[in-house]
Amino acid sequence: MNTLHVDLGKRSYPIHIGAGLIGNPDLVIPHVRGKQVLIVTNTTVGPLYLERALTAFPDKRVETLVLPDGEQYKNLEILNRIYDCLLGHRFHRQATLVALGGGVIGDITGFAAASYQRGVDFIQIPTTLLSQVDSSVGGKTGVNHALGKNMIGAFHQPVCVVADTTSLDTLEDRELSAGLAEVIKYGLIRDPEFFSWLQQNMDALLERDRGALAYAIERSCRNKAEVVARDETEQGERALLNLGHTFGHAIETGMGYGSWLHGEAVAVGMIMAADMSMRMGWLDHDTVQRVENLIDQARLPTRAPGELATDRFIELMGVDKKVQDGRLNLVLLHAIGSAVVSGEFPPALLRTTIDDHHAITAKRGLSLR
Ligand code: NAD
Ligand code: GLY
Repeated sequence: MNTLHVDLGKRSYPIHIGAGLIGNPDLVIPHVRGKQVLIVTNTTVGPLYLERALTAFPDKRVETLVLPDGEQYKNLEILNRIYDCLLGHRFHRQATLVALGGGVIGDITGFAAASYQRGVDFIQIPTTLLSQVDSSVGGKTGVNHALGKNMIGAFHQPVCVVADTTSLDTLEDRELSAGLAEVIKYGLIRDPEFFSWLQQNMDALLERDRGALAYAIERSCRNKAEVVARDETEQGERALLNLGHTFGHAIETGMGYGSWLHGEAVAVGMIMAADMSMRMGWLDHDTVQRVENLIDQARLPTRAPGELATDRFIELMGVDKKVQDGRLNLVLLHAIGSAVVSGEFPPALLRTTIDDHHAITAKRGLSLR
């Protein structure tokens, strides 16, 4: 097992990464203040890991809540079920919530913890690659609104993250690839050596080589922890972690939550951001091709869905937390490993980028694998 730390003063916390960690009381019990624990999971992860997770809380009064599975359930209505459960069992302020699942369970449980009685503790036990490399770390919690992705939420850090790499054994290939999109993101925004490592090791990752996966998770978490420690509430640098996300969120919302996976939408978004960076004169064509090739190697889609017409795409991109005073800011690239947040692009350039993607999608006839 390896342990990293997110350095946030009094709110610092460990990220434990290793095999067979779910169910280990030593990792979680030191972070549980009271007797009451609520484990929130879903109908897919519950049958696989809930029993094991319960063994980590031997002397606690543990309740469990199994939510429906899917991005379309990351909303206020399902969030309310968590409050119902907490209030129904008279949970008090010393209670601890535990998110056992992927990013959807992590985000919604984290937001319940952020808002229940103005804030209670929560532990992240991420079980997808995406949640182990990204969403379980950093304290962004929230739910979707019909009009915009992740539009309702709060910053609320977990007290501990336990990433059990063996849980990835049961993950579907498509979900593994979705997680790789966020892994590639770290290489693109701040870690060019990691990008090269990924080029050389993508096949091992797809074959679920344990050593390669553990290395990718650790390096991703290290990158994320450094950024979060410097800019917890996204006043500046943290926005770089959203490379590809403004394009991606438009795809997710426009196509209906759950149709495109978050990582798939981000993958295409990163290619569109690289393409736009080339149009700004910041990247050459070969570099854009390197980005696209690695994303393709990770078995991710490389083209935006043709169904999402350019006008609608741009409209959806306007519902973004990086819009300031009506101006859309995008994360763009100066090089592999060097990203920037910029609103200084001609609006026509964004339109051409999306139009050209649509033209290629139409030529190829398919956007999603
Ligand atoms: P997810 O939570 O929907 O999980 C993907 C699928 O895998 C689900 O069907 C889930 O039930 C299943 N699953 C989970 N663990 C499994 C396992 N071990 N074995 C078999 N199946 C398993 O999706 P995700 O990709 O983990 O997370 C995406 C979500 O995370 C999105 O809502 C996105 O907005 C959010 N996100 C949040 C942050 C953040 O900083 N808070 C960052 C990135 C993404
Ligand atoms: N996934 C973006 C962030 O945590 O800031």
